Parts: sequence; structure tokens; C-alpha cells
Amino acid sequence: MTNEIHAERILILDFGSQYTQLIARRVREAHTYCEIHPFNMPVDEIKSFKPMGIILSGGHQSVYDDNARVVDSIVFELGVPILGICYGMHLLTRHFAGEVEASATREYGHATINKTAAASDLFDTLLPGSGEGSVWMSHGDHVTTPPEGFDIVAKSQNGIVAGMEDTDRGMFAVQFHPEVNHTQNGDAFVDAFINRVCGCNGLWTPASFVEYETEHARQIVGDDHVLLGLSGGVDSSVVAALLHRAIGDKLTCVFVDNGLLRLNEGDEVMATFAQHMGVKVIRVDAQDMFLSRLKGITDPEEKRKIIGHTFIEVFETEAKKIAGVTWLAQGTIYPDVIESAGAKSGMATNIKSHHNVGGLPERMGLKLLEPLRELFKDEVRNAGLELGLPERMIFRHPFPGPGLGVRILGEVKKEYADLLRRADAIYMAELYSSGHYYKTAQAFTVFLPVKSVGVMGDGRSYDYVVALRAVETKDYMTATAYPMPHDLLSKIANRIINEVKGINRVTYDITSKPPGTIEWE
Ligand code: XMP
Repeated sequence: MTNEIHAERILILDFGSQYTQLIARRVREAHTYCEIHPFNMPVDEIKSFKPMGIILSGGHQSVYDDNARVVDSIVFELGVPILGICYGMHLLTRHFAGEVEASATREYGHATINKTAAASDLFDTLLPGSGEGSVWMSHGDHVTTPPEGFDIVAKSQNGIVAGMEDTDRGMFAVQFHPEVNHTQNGDAFVDAFINRVCGCNGLWTPASFVEYETEHARQIVGDDHVLLGLSGGVDSSVVAALLHRAIGDKLTCVFVDNGLLRLNEGDEVMATFAQHMGVKVIRVDAQDMFLSRLKGITDPEEKRKIIGHTFIEVFETEAKKIAGVTWLAQGTIYPDVIESAGAKSGMATNIKSHHNVGGLPERMGLKLLEPLRELFKDEVRNAGLELGLPERMIFRHPFPGPGLGVRILGEVKKEYADLLRRADAIYMAELYSSGHYYKTAQAFTVFLPVKSVGVMGDGRSYDYVVALRAVETKDYMTATAYPMPHDLLSKIANRIINEVKGINRVTYDITSKPPGTIEWE
């Protein structure tokens, strides 16, 4: 379905670069809709996509490889502007009979580039003022002779062609990666390509997206009823707020309290959605069921499976009680869509397929409603703010599906979960009030079911231990321990030991990932 927010669109053809998603994010930041498709997208699909511009991504191959990835020549004949990045630059060069030199070694990291005499409008955004700038390189091959009609507009300090253009044909190419944050003014460069060269008009904004999706959901749902599993996490919260705006009472949310949530979490979700916004939310207290099934189970993977299966069972039982439901809403977001598509086509380097809630839609004959499936995470957050959700909810750290189940080492017991909840609430309160919460990507407390000796007043104590964890990371694949100030750690430890009877020792985890993981289980 296309309406005005999708009317101006950029096509990103993916040659397997680790940075392709970043290209899409920069285009969206330039307020234009875009989609990533594999490099071998069928010609009729390329034509019917009707792009206002095409970006050819980088890739780890050389254009001289036996099975080098190529695009159909239609791409160069549509008469729309093209930006070739790295491998995309080499491909474009070869297509127009320029020369690319294969290289046995890769250049990787920061490089300084300079405008050459013929610098252009577009490259002026990247290299303003002195004409010198710092960019991120990651390549083997490079262009030695640009195709006829192309001007070299920037060179690196070791003489490599860093940028070239043929403004008459609207073709541009760069050896570096403007989509990566390390490239100075890379965002301005992409923005200028989208808005000045391709002539897009900034139709894609959080407000226009929310308006479009609200109307879209209203139309396709009609008089039907929709069910949503609300966890209190960002994605399901934004779906709830959006669908509530679209269809009001025809949305029913199910919130399952599995006994492994953080302190007051259930009450807070009910306060935000049910009391404050008037969303229909059914709160299911399934604590006993989860905890009894976890009794005696110590293996982390087994715990995860039990929690996952029990959730589906509880959710399905509740769903069956609600009459007339035909849709199941889910907080699927664009990276999930890309990864599933990549897994199918074999293009993704990070293969992970996205699953529906345990096959529930198929089993119950429900249609899937995924209003966030075009959005990146930061766009979901912006949509949430646009919908008036509280900032604390929108910018909260990620919380794993199995909740405290993987933060209580070994067997899960209610006593442990209660102690952990109280300790963690103190830790979070101190992080918020000291301003450190948003400087960390994820912070939480882990419960260690071992007792150690302490002195409390005149007596000895023999109580449990908790570990505080806080990490810095962008992608959660690698992480480093956050350098938490020592005095703050001392304050948190004192508060936990004084206020949570049953815990007498607090430690701070300084392990990186790898070799550690972020969670302890
Ligand atoms: P690890 O511990 O693998 O965690 O370094 C990376 C990120 O994934 C989260 N995580 C999970 N999320 N279900 C989830 O929904 C899980 O079973 C799970 N295990 C880890 C973790 O919190 C971190 O953000």
C-alpha cells in the first residue's frame, strides 16, 4: 500500500556490506522512506518500486571475483540518481568502462581525504571549508581510471580516488563509507544526496508515519478485533499506543505477570496504559504457574524454554476467552524483517529468523498486524514519543523475555526474585538520579544463590550476594563494562545491604563481552 509517505522512496541494493542497514538509517534520518533489497532484485520489481534514487551498497567481494555480484543494467538506465558506495563504486566504474585495480590488501579505518579542484555541490557538504575531511574506509579494490564523463572530486592522502561524479547523468560514487558515524559529515552528505540530488521532500517523519499507520490500521481492521501481547517493552508499548489511537476499544492487550518482572512493573504498565490512556488491558497473574514449573530447574536453556512455552500457553488461554478476535498484533520491526529476508536469501551475515509468538497466529487462525515493520528501533522510539508515551518507557534499557529468570542463577525461587527486585530497584533509582542510566546501554542486578559472611552492627550475618552489571555497547554483540564511579558503587552497595534484608554483599562485574556475555545465564 502506498500513500504519500511512501511516494518518495529510495532503493538500497545490498551487496552484503556489514553497513547496509546504516545506509537505510541515514536515508530515513534524511526523512525519506527506503527499502533494502538484495542486489539481484528482479527487474520488474525494481521498476515497480519506482525509486527516486538508488544506492549501491558496499560488499566484501572484489569485482574481479569469479562469482562477483552484479546488478541488472536496468539500474543504470532508469534515469534516477545513483550513489555507489565502495563495492557499489567499483561496480558502477566497471559498468561504464572505467578501471578498477584489484588489491591484495585491505585499507581499513580512518583516512583523510581532500577535495580536488573540481569539487562539487554534493561533496561540499562532506568537505566544507578547507576541503579536508576524515572518512571511514574499508576496501581492497579501488578506482584507477573513472569512466568517461566522471570527474574525480576527492582523493585520499595516498592518492586513491575517494569520490567521483557525473552530474549530467546524476551518478556519484565514493570509496569510503558515508553511512558510518566515523565519517565526518557523512550524514549531511547522505542528506544532500537524498534531498538535493534525488529531489526528495522529507515526507517521512514520526508524525507522518504515526498518522499513516493509524489510518492504515483503522482501514484494514475495520470492525474486527485485535489482540496484542503487551510486555511493557518499547516495541509492544508503541504498538499498543498506536493501535489504541487507531481502533480504540477494538484492541485488547494481554499483559502476563510471570513473577519474573521488575519491582512494580505490572502496576506501572497498568497505570500507563489502562488508567492513563484508557487501553483495554487484561492483566494475568500467572506467577504461581511459572514459578511452580521452574521449581528444581537449574539449566539456563531449560529455564528459558519453560518460561517461553508457559508464556505461549497462558497467552493462548487468555486469547481464547476474548470473543471475536481476528488479528494478532506484533511489534516486529524492520531489522527483524531484513534479517528474516536475509536468512531466506542467504545474504545476511547475521542469520537469525524472526518467529511469531510460538506459531500462535497459524494455530488460532489469526491474521498478523505488524504496524512497526518498516521502522528501525530509533524510529520506533520517535513514534512512541509522538504518541505521547513517557520518555522513561521509551528509553528504558532492553529487558530479556525470560526476565529475572536468567538473572537468578540456577533455580528460580520467589524469595530470590523478591530480593533481586528490591536490590535492582535501588540500583536503577541511583543510576537515574546520578545521571548514569542513559550513559549505559544496559544495567541490571544478578542474584547469586550463595551465602557469605558479614558483620551487621554487633552480630554476624550470613546472607546472599548480588552482582551489579552495567555495559556500554551499540549492538549488544560486543560490550565493555561501564566505568561506574567508585563512590556511586559504594553508595548503591550500602543502600542495598541496609535496605534489603537478606543481602549482605554486593559486587560489580567488570567482564567484557567477549569473553563474557551481558547476562550471566
Ligand atoms: P547476552 O547475554 O547474550 O545478551 O550477551 C545480549 C542481549 O540479549 C538479551 N538477552 C535476551 N533477550 N531473551 C531475550 O529477549 C533471551 O533469552 C535473552 N538472553 C539475552 C540481553 O539482555 C542483552 O540485551
